[in-house]
Amino acid sequence: MAVIANNCPDIRVTLVDLNEERINNWNNADLSKLPVYENGLSDLVKINRNKNLFFTTNVQKSISEADIIFISVNTPTKIKGVGAGYASDLKWIESSARTIAKYAKGQTIIVEKSTVPVRTAELIRTILKSSVEKSGQYSSKKFSVLSSPEFLAEGTAIKDLQNPDRVLIGGDDNYAIEQLSLLYQKWIPKNKIFVTNLWSSELSKLTANAFLAQRISSINAISALCEETGADVREVTKAIGADTRIGNKFLNAGPGFGGSCFQKDLLNMIYLCRYYKLDEVANYWEEVLKINKWQKKRISKLIVEKLFGTVATKKLIILGFAFKSNTNDTRESPAISIARDLIENGANLYIHDPKVSESQIAMILGGDNADKDSAEGSWQFSEDLEKDCKNSDAIILLTEWEDYLKVNWEKISKLMRKPSWLFDTRGIINQEDLVGTDLNFWKIGKSFFKTNENI
Ligand code: UDX
Repeated sequence: MAVIANNCPDIRVTLVDLNEERINNWNNADLSKLPVYENGLSDLVKINRNKNLFFTTNVQKSISEADIIFISVNTPTKIKGVGAGYASDLKWIESSARTIAKYAKGQTIIVEKSTVPVRTAELIRTILKSSVEKSGQYSSKKFSVLSSPEFLAEGTAIKDLQNPDRVLIGGDDNYAIEQLSLLYQKWIPKNKIFVTNLWSSELSKLTANAFLAQRISSINAISALCEETGADVREVTKAIGADTRIGNKFLNAGPGFGGSCFQKDLLNMIYLCRYYKLDEVANYWEEVLKINKWQKKRISKLIVEKLFGTVATKKLIILGFAFKSNTNDTRESPAISIARDLIENGANLYIHDPKVSESQIAMILGGDNADKDSAEGSWQFSEDLEKDCKNSDAIILLTEWEDYLKVNWEKISKLMRKPSWLFDTRGIINQEDLVGTDLNFWKIGKSFFKTNENI
């Protein structure tokens, strides 16, 4: 919405949320308090706030004044009831539709922005239609429902929104499609705006995420094979990525994909296939998730194995807790399950991340339980890497933050207990950076070697 406001000065954009604290933070004069950290976002908020970009909890008034309403609520995986563990929970979509049905006036275009299962627009339409019927034949209310899913990735959101590969508008009401298209055309070339039917638009979003996740699981599967055979996954990636049919993006082997979308959307896709009795298709996509889970497990297992089969009471440093760099988001981060496994094995973790806060980690892993005598391991937040590396047995790099490329390994390795280890699950550290250290170096997708024997 900040990008829309910035590109369309003549359009008034109002963000509504029931959560007062969140809205207060969006209105906070101190821009570091904005609820979302995203490169370039605070600048846009600063320029446009209270000009044509407003944040309010006044849902009723804002809906009644709106011509176009974007539903951008969360659709998490259901944790109980029918479809638990797979289906998306649409309760926020439903309640948004009911609220819109109640307060909207005149002709209103509803745009589904949230990622939703195919045919969710049907649900929204049904609710809106019943409200019009209830108001009787003289009702002034008229609704059109469009789907326009969002393809931005965190960390590059503003760039992705400003210059998208494509924008989708799914629907069957030509007037509504034209209105939304005109809005996008303020900054997006018309040939990048694809008009489809509603269901294709909804399914394209799930399919895009399923394909991207599948690429990562494919290369992660190959990373394990590389480690066994003496191939280097980065060389394989370069070789296959040069084939224009394959392309070189989204082929970085790592500790498994995280983030709020891939797993959720795959589960959604699997649920949908099972619902339509397409079990083979469901099983196919489920394998992508299984490889992802396996990749995380195999990393924690190999760390334990390399450290003489036990990490109990050992001091391990975790570099990075966010699900990828340039975000403070930890949702489904591979670091979570790897850290949990190591703690369960008795390790004492020191977790460092340039953007994730201690309280955020505590909410996920439980309170800081730095009790050195406990059989169960512990974790604590690391603010001073050099200090914390003292007497540590291993460093495990889990997020590809640029800061970690600047670490002085020679200095750090001298502080560690011998034999000391570096596990690079993102494959960003080069062997040459470790000259002068005696670190044992494991890098994803490459056969293990000991640095001082190889350099
Ligand atoms: C994703 C989609 O990219 C985006 O289009 C959609 O709208 C939302 O979901 P996001 O979750 O923000 O975006 O992050 P993305 O950059 O796609 O990364 C997802 C996960 O895959 C991260 O954990 C990342 O580290 C991992 N990843 C990505 C890899 O392991 N290797 C890669 O080559 C790329």
